[in-house]
Amino acid sequence: MQLRSWLGAGMLAATVSFAPAPASAQGALVLYCAVQEEWCRAMSNAFEKETGIKVAMTRKSSGEIYAQIKAEASNPRGDVWWGGTGDPHLQAAEESLTLEYESPVNKDLHDWSLSQWKAAKQRSIGIYAGALGFGFNTQQIKSKGMAEPKCWADLLDAKLKDDVQVADPNSSGTAYTLLATVVQLMGEEKGFEYLKALHKNISQYTKSGAAPAKAASLGETAVGIVFIHDAVVFAVQGDPIKPVAPCEGTGYEIGSMSIVKGARNLENAKKFYDWALSPAAQALGAPAKSYQVPSNKNAPVPPQAPKMSDMKLIDYDFVKYGSSAERVRLLAKWDKEVKSLPK
Ligand code: G6P
Repeated sequence: MQLRSWLGAGMLAATVSFAPAPASAQGALVLYCAVQEEWCRAMSNAFEKETGIKVAMTRKSSGEIYAQIKAEASNPRGDVWWGGTGDPHLQAAEESLTLEYESPVNKDLHDWSLSQWKAAKQRSIGIYAGALGFGFNTQQIKSKGMAEPKCWADLLDAKLKDDVQVADPNSSGTAYTLLATVVQLMGEEKGFEYLKALHKNISQYTKSGAAPAKAASLGETAVGIVFIHDAVVFAVQGDPIKPVAPCEGTGYEIGSMSIVKGARNLENAKKFYDWALSPAAQALGAPAKSYQVPSNKNAPVPPQAPKMSDMKLIDYDFVKYGSSAERVRLLAKWDKEVKSLPK
């Protein structure tokens, strides 16, 4: 029996090695992708076409990918984590879940991209940037007899009761950026008071960060707290949604990429990494309706990208808010003091 199965395996191996080279002759790549599905697919397809490397892509939110890579640490399944906010990438770097790598393309990247790389001790790099804000449905706001919201403070208006959506910061990098932003902008005590007051107006904490933008564009919620570029997507296609950069100032993300430590397809992971930093690959965002600012200086900036230079941006402390201790502490505090509050 044993001999037969050994022979069987040998015959199978022989069949495989004499078969004509399949399309995946260059091997495979397991990609964990944390941006919008359409952009994830455009990236996987273009890389596959260019290299012949077969890509197995899964789309999840930033915090979920972090949790998956951590859970798989003793038996890694993913090769590259591409996209999503920088903070959980930094946490993964600190916890040694990802690998140091220096790409030859580094010399063409903006300083903010390289600052992520330095903060992560070479284990993560910036691929795009985007500022946090919100989008509101113009018809809904009008029908409530409200002035157009322009500031974070306006989102506490009682007329917005159960009519604001944001994601859960445990799963979503967008929502963690909100948490870290209000703490930096208002101070921790006032920041948590703000989040508790906001809780009264929240109808649901979604899993994915960009979902509230779609809900606001459809009039399913009056306001969605999202990255501004995620609201722009619906505004440019003519939906009744207005993107806002809040008047008090706001935080931003350095969307990032990391190679998983113990990646089974390490050479392919490095190939993808270098390619993903190239101007041609970064130009795939805009046609897939993703209007972030790319990290390669030679990549075209989508004309629809919100102008971050015109916004009041906080001096976001990525090192502190991406550290394992601070993320764990703030998320636990939010669960305990905000999410569990009755309304
Ligand atoms: C959207 C945005 C990205 C952001 C990502 C975070 O895809 O366009 O800029 O990095 O959300 O996703 P998450 O679901 O983790 O908030």
